[in-house]
Amino acid sequence: MDLKPEAVSKVTVPYVLERKLHGHKLTCITAYDYPTARLADEAGIDVILVGDSLGQVVLGYDSTVPVTLDELLHHTRAARRGSRRSLLVMDLPFGSYQVNDEDGLHAAVRAVKEAGAEAVKLEGGRKRAALIRRLVDAEIPVMGHVGLTPQSVHAMGGYGVQGKTLDSAGRILADAQAVEDAGAFAVVLEGIPRELAVMITERLRIPTIGIGAGPDCDGQILVFHDLAGLTFGAPAKFVRRYASLGEAIAKALADFRHDILAGDYPSDGESYHWPSAVREQFEKESLRRP
Ligand code: KIV
Repeated sequence: MDLKPEAVSKVTVPYVLERKLHGHKLTCITAYDYPTARLADEAGIDVILVGDSLGQVVLGYDSTVPVTLDELLHHTRAARRGSRRSLLVMDLPFGSYQVNDEDGLHAAVRAVKEAGAEAVKLEGGRKRAALIRRLVDAEIPVMGHVGLTPQSVHAMGGYGVQGKTLDSAGRILADAQAVEDAGAFAVVLEGIPRELAVMITERLRIPTIGIGAGPDCDGQILVFHDLAGLTFGAPAKFVRRYASLGEAIAKALADFRHDILAGDYPSDGESYHWPSAVREQFEKESLRRP
């Protein structure tokens, strides 16, 4: 198989697994709407994740906890319409799989059937192994997510880096291994020391996708709004800003407002006009008016 991105017209789960075997990095980004998904797809990004980070960067929630299944389905449908080549993955939100595995299976079926997702992502390791097996048995590819798992913010007591002691590192390694053994095709490693990410990446056969986990993972993912500079607080240490869209949009809005107030927008060139015949007729008829 020619694994060069330009040689592959559709990113599939087997292709993602092949890339690790051949030592090629995977490129991943979040997207929640048609234009962003389309731009990511056309840029040759391998995996588009409709992440539950939607809650914070698009919907204005404080955390990912309040995000609902319906919200994720709605945004996944929009991203689906924008993506063709990339593999489209939908996050299962908090509450859609924690009560019982049956709920998780129903949520994942809806992601695939109603929103066009090609895989789902869920957080947790050993605790989620049975659910991952169930989804894989139902022909739904699963991406795992271990380390800093934002849906557990209350249990973790915040968003601190995980796996800083040998004990906790061992637990995260066991979680990643459980995700692989249960049949997941990839696993996100979030917010862990680089050394631990190296160890997990070397031990697993499935690709590791890092976010705040150093450069040695098999792939990298960032939240689109972080990369594009479209967030409001200070970015986390691992974020590299590739654009300053927030500043560009703020300037565009200030200029627009200024031009309206100054009477400069719209100009005559930005206005519609009658055809000349109608204009002439109007002028003649107005002359006749008393
Ligand atoms: O929701 C999300 O954006 C994620 C990524 C950070 C991996 O889970």
